[in-house]
Amino acid sequence: MSNTYNFGLVGLGVMGRNFILNVTDNDFSAYGLDTDPEKVSALVEEGSGKKVGGTTLKEEFIQKLETPRKIMLLVPAGGPVDSVIEDLWPLLDKGDLIIDGGNSFYTDTDRRINYLAEKGIHFFGSGVSGGAKGARFGPSIMPGGDQEAYELIRPVFEAVSAKVNGEPCVDYMGKGSAGNYVKMVHNGIEYGLMQLISESYDIMMRGLGKSNEELHQIFHQWNQGKLQSFLIEITAEIFTHKDELEEGHLVDFILDKAKQKGTGKWTSQNAMDLGIPVPTIDVAVSMREISAMKSLREKADLLYKDPVMDADRPTVEQIEDALYFSYLITYAQGMTQLAAASEEYDYGLNMERISKIWRGGCIIRSSILEDMRKAYDKDPSLMSLLLDTDFVTRVTNHVDSARKVASYAIKSGITTSGLCASLTYFDAFRTGRLPLNLIQAQRDHFGSHTYERIDREGIFHTEW
Ligand code: 6PG
Repeated sequence: MSNTYNFGLVGLGVMGRNFILNVTDNDFSAYGLDTDPEKVSALVEEGSGKKVGGTTLKEEFIQKLETPRKIMLLVPAGGPVDSVIEDLWPLLDKGDLIIDGGNSFYTDTDRRINYLAEKGIHFFGSGVSGGAKGARFGPSIMPGGDQEAYELIRPVFEAVSAKVNGEPCVDYMGKGSAGNYVKMVHNGIEYGLMQLISESYDIMMRGLGKSNEELHQIFHQWNQGKLQSFLIEITAEIFTHKDELEEGHLVDFILDKAKQKGTGKWTSQNAMDLGIPVPTIDVAVSMREISAMKSLREKADLLYKDPVMDADRPTVEQIEDALYFSYLITYAQGMTQLAAASEEYDYGLNMERISKIWRGGCIIRSSILEDMRKAYDKDPSLMSLLLDTDFVTRVTNHVDSARKVASYAIKSGITTSGLCASLTYFDAFRTGRLPLNLIQAQRDHFGSHTYERIDREGIFHTEW
């Protein structure tokens, strides 16, 4: 049987295998390629009875696919993507489409688009979020590239993606590397939210003395309310999990060093390049780095005394409100970065569409995404969610709790860098006149760097 399979997938690890099975569940036929014969057998076995096949041979793989071919790569970002492209392109026909579904750096995607365009082959950078389960039962997909080429893959992506109110969690993001860029910022927001949740956990555990059972109940309850989100849901689950090796809960035996694969750091680095502040995401990255300094932290722990815990403890409800406030601020930072990047890189991003496809399937899905969608529906050119009237009300109603929790944590010596960064961002953003006039004066004083005035046009310099 040649030239009959609708969809091809390279890289049959757990993500790849799950994605291809999802495709075949939706009545498309699919063929997989991997250099590891065991992975190919695992796919064929799990997919028995479905329209799925697999091979270790690239020639066979290419021959099996209907034209124009639609080939998705789910291989590690970086070198592996380039080597698969090098292997495949000489076998392809003009008009075929390669889709990179990994967390590739956006400039790599732009380079690959240009390289393959010279050969008449379309290339798409397409973020896929939702982990292994999402890939199997419905991820959020963020494709970017040539809009006409998107039509080739749209039916498959719409069928396999998560659905919210019957609407697929996939849409065309924009030109060039827009899909990878949007996924990168998704991950930056993910870093921020995870950091904020870990701070709430710390305050409730060390500050309020809550047990894992109580923490499970609290997070479970939060997930029924305004904080309803995937990350809160899995956090509640984590606190129920008993350890298999020792007496107690697994979470208490996990080493407190958080790893990272780079997407959060890229978000921060690029935000700096764009001149867009994303301090909650920045500190989330820094906290992973500080967490990695475990042996130095343990030495310092012996050198410094803990402060006396502040007796004026916040309530669980105030901690919930503070977390909700910080969630709003984190999304606002990420979305402002996306809006700025869209202008800078000419992506043509549509913020309502992004909010819409993040409502389901992805790691940062939460009930707040629907509120964001509405805000961008009202004003598609909104540069900050914090200027939307509905967000003004939400932020105003929760900021006092954020201040209360932050001051308790600071007095008690519990690190809440994500919460404090969110508050700082908010307070700076809502301050019409900041003290940075003094910085301008200093710059002019020591370096004749000039300044502008509030009362008249022009550039000024003073001999101080
Ligand atoms: C997703 C995730 C995923 C990412 C992991 C791990 O949307 O499904 O963002 O793409 O790889 O979250 O990221 P770190 O290893 O950097 O924490």
